[in-house]
Amino acid sequence: MPAAIITSDRASVDLDACYNPSTGVLDRRIFTDRLVYEEELKRIFGRGWNFICHDSQIPDPGNFFVSFIGEDEVIAVRDRTDKVNVLLNSCPHRGNTVCRAELGTTKSFMCSYHGWNFDLDGSLVAVPNEEAFYKGGLDKKDWGLESAAKVESYKGFYFATLDPDAPSLLDYLGWVGKLGIDMMLVDGPIRFLDGVHKNRLKCNWKFAVDNLYDWYHVKVSHGTAFKVGLVTEEAMAPNDQMVILGEYGHGIGGPGLTVERQAEFDQRQTTGEGESQWYDLQASHRTDPATREMLGPIGHRSFGHPNIFPNLWVTHTRQMCLRIPRGPFETEIWWFNYLPVNLPAAQSKQSIFTHNHVFGPAGFLEQDDGENWSHSTRGARGTQSKNRPLNISMGLGQDAVSTDPSGQSGIETVVNEHGQRWTYQCWKEWMQADSWQDLMNNHSTPPQGSV
Ligand code: FES
Ligand code: FE
Repeated sequence: MPAAIITSDRASVDLDACYNPSTGVLDRRIFTDRLVYEEELKRIFGRGWNFICHDSQIPDPGNFFVSFIGEDEVIAVRDRTDKVNVLLNSCPHRGNTVCRAELGTTKSFMCSYHGWNFDLDGSLVAVPNEEAFYKGGLDKKDWGLESAAKVESYKGFYFATLDPDAPSLLDYLGWVGKLGIDMMLVDGPIRFLDGVHKNRLKCNWKFAVDNLYDWYHVKVSHGTAFKVGLVTEEAMAPNDQMVILGEYGHGIGGPGLTVERQAEFDQRQTTGEGESQWYDLQASHRTDPATREMLGPIGHRSFGHPNIFPNLWVTHTRQMCLRIPRGPFETEIWWFNYLPVNLPAAQSKQSIFTHNHVFGPAGFLEQDDGENWSHSTRGARGTQSKNRPLNISMGLGQDAVSTDPSGQSGIETVVNEHGQRWTYQCWKEWMQADSWQDLMNNHSTPPQGSV
């Protein structure tokens, strides 16, 4: 029985009414309400599978990388048995973080407060002056670092969940989540580069997620980037669009090729004729039959942005981005940069230039976007303005899902807001579910037919 989860004298958002899929009208208080935010941490980030790190970031025993599940700081560490553990970075003595570095190599984690020392599997192995001060009264096996409930990887991408009832990672990702990751592997195995570009924006995390499906803003928000030649109209504002929707809120939205256009680009690959530089470049990564098989008949015609619900965005700049919530009004943006293992040096250099100049703290496009997301968040805070709903109705009822015999499906259309509507619909279902079982029983499966 869906119910408003928020009960307080201070605030209330009726979750049942906050989003109407049949009209595309959204209650903007979901972006600013503190109690909604607290429930998101519990019901979405605490329950879902969260991307933690890539295999190549922690290749050897003792290597660690510090990440976040919602606001819970965690350490991913490879132990001496080669197992990757994800441990809460919070000492059970007084709660201090036991690891202050963002990444590195260690033999153990010693808390800087009183010196409790934890092994790579999180077990408490040493306590200063244990005998003299605790006199046998501390059972160390009960006071290790807490582990995530489950840690699993898909093709080297490690995810963790805090909920022991979560389905397997593969079931969670489904074909759309896996496709999002497979798109990063079209040039073969990859390695993540050292360090992560991090910055904070004064926006609610959902505005950042919403935007990755948004190909409507491009010509306006990024007009200057067009003018200076950083991006092309063909890449960023094409007519052909494809949206792929997956279970539990995953999705891919953006440029896509019709079958006919794909054939045209394939032809151009062999003849070298034509003017279509961006698509030719993208398509050239997907000519290998094994790659096409991996992406599938609809997937290989998509050049859009995948989002692995809730907050992992994959771009086509050899980057992926986590949008980590820092309260209702702030989001920490983490850009992971990767390169194919066998990429020639000149192309690697070009990719690194792109990593530094398109997104991230110094990125041209993200400066444009971040301003808009921050002001959208600000606009949802005023006593009057927060009561004015938002319109996400573009394309509603005007498109159809086509399904391939392989089981893949997609919406082939023009610029639209299908991805945003799917995100908020799934968000609402996550927020209304009381458990994984409840979510599994009551979530929407991706639409068929008219959308
Ligand atoms: Fe960690 Fe006391 S808080 S040893
Ligand atoms: Fe943008």
